[in-house]
Amino acid sequence: MTELSTRPGSESHDATDETIEVRTIEAAAAPSRFARGWHCLGLTRDLADGKPHQIDVFGTSLVVFADSTGKLNVLDAYCRHMGGNLAHGTVKGDSIACPFHDWRWNGKGRCTDIPYARRVPPLARTKAWTTLERNGQLYVWNDPEGNPPPEDVTIPHIEGYGTDEWTDWSWKSIRIKGSHCREIVDNVVDMAHFFYVHYSFPRYFKNVFEGHTATQYMRSTGREDVIVGTNYDDPNAELASEATYFGPSYMIDWLESQANGMTINTVLINCHYPVSNNEFVLQYGAIVKKLPGMTDEQSEAMAEQFAEGVKLGFEQDVDIWKNKAPIDNPLLSEEDGPVYQLRRWYKQFYVDAADVADDMTNRFEFEIDTTRAVANWRKEVDDNLAAGRTITSTEV
Ligand code: FES
Ligand SMILES: [Fe+2]
Repeated sequence: MTELSTRPGSESHDATDETIEVRTIEAAAAPSRFARGWHCLGLTRDLADGKPHQIDVFGTSLVVFADSTGKLNVLDAYCRHMGGNLAHGTVKGDSIACPFHDWRWNGKGRCTDIPYARRVPPLARTKAWTTLERNGQLYVWNDPEGNPPPEDVTIPHIEGYGTDEWTDWSWKSIRIKGSHCREIVDNVVDMAHFFYVHYSFPRYFKNVFEGHTATQYMRSTGREDVIVGTNYDDPNAELASEATYFGPSYMIDWLESQANGMTINTVLINCHYPVSNNEFVLQYGAIVKKLPGMTDEQSEAMAEQFAEGVKLGFEQDVDIWKNKAPIDNPLLSEEDGPVYQLRRWYKQFYVDAADVADDMTNRFEFEIDTTRAVANWRKEVDDNLAAGRTITSTEV
């Protein structure tokens, strides 16, 4: 008997059984196209500062600039005249002026002026991207087939955002090289990694996929054997999380935590955009509902502290992603969640709209039975506490 097999409920297998075939990891190359859907490029307050911003995304570069009305426009960064980089240019009126020969391009992608020329070539046009400004964020629509976004595929308004009752975004981003962004999406169903990688203690875990949305419902507590520098420091803190991907890359996570006798409502955004098929930018941020009696500064500090905690969590994920192998055929236990169904759901964004099959979008629900996991994790935490083994997560 191995040590592992003495655990209550663990089934033992004879390790010397040579009749069992060795599992081989299968992994096709990462998709060469980029997902159809809305992608958040960042906060409007950062992008609408009167300067052009270069965003490396979808295997190319885009320029984001605000025109005189304050509207954000997104164009291909490379000027159709001779390839100058518009992100290195200047905003002039409602147009972006190329640094190379001063050709001017407006938000619709039309050339509006060539100051040294008698006339503008009448058909001069570059690619303008479909945008959406909402929740203090800028989104662009990507569709390899070139179609506009269907009306029912959008990013919802976040209730409370922009009101006095909530803080503004505490926002962060990390650029991750050497991984395809599908790695982060796997987190949606991955209950067990929350315990091992993020040091939370899941108690309830359910997924619902439908259409272009995928939701994770989780209730968790902190691990008493782990000291974290966030509001989870209350060992009795309980967190209820409802996290939904709206399309391939933008997740809204509504969180309610009970800690230190207070109820704290937080909205966390977890989103990403692909730089290439082997690199992506992860962005995330939090707003917090201000507590009665708390000053704005204290509330902002709470949102910032929350975002710092999330940063730590993502850094733990990143460390795993950077060192793991891509795997198309994960070997699963019953407590692992519907990885394969999630990947079918995710595939809808990588095929032509006409090829989206019912099994990618039909409603699908799955609740993990957490009984065994909770009992075994309870024991692990107790054993750690009894042995004085506490982990300070910032040191890991
Ligand atoms: S390359 Fe942009 S103006 Fe010439
Ligand atoms: Fe994670």
